[in-house]
Amino acid sequence: MPRITFVTTDGTRKNVDVPEGETLMRAAIDNQVDAILGECGGACCCATCHVYLDAGSMARLPPVSDMESQLLAFTAAERRPGSRLACQLVADRQFDGLVVDLPPTQL
Ligand code: FES
Repeated sequence: MPRITFVTTDGTRKNVDVPEGETLMRAAIDNQVDAILGECGGACCCATCHVYLDAGSMARLPPVSDMESQLLAFTAAERRPGSRLACQLVADRQFDGLVVDLPPTQL
C-alpha cells in the first residue's frame, strides 16, 4: 500500500497509507488532513483539494488533464508548476513515498 506524506505549511507531516485505487483527496479526508476540503466529493468542480507536488513527483504521475488544468485556474492559493487536484490522483504503486505539500488556504 503506497505511503503518502502530507505536509502542512507549518511543516507538520502526516504519513497516510493509501489503498491503491483511492484518491489522495479521499485518503486525506479519511485521515483528518484538515487542509483538504473536497467540497465537490471528487467531481473536479471545486478546487478545494489543491495540493503541491515537487518536480520529481510530477514527472512520475499521470499528467494534468484539460479539465483539471482549467479548474486549477480557480484555486484559492496560487497555482504553481506542481499544482494538482488531489481528487484526480488515484493511488497506485508509483505513489509510494510521495510528499504532498498543502496550500495555506482552500477558501
Ligand atoms: S474535490 Fe472538488 S475538485 Fe477535487
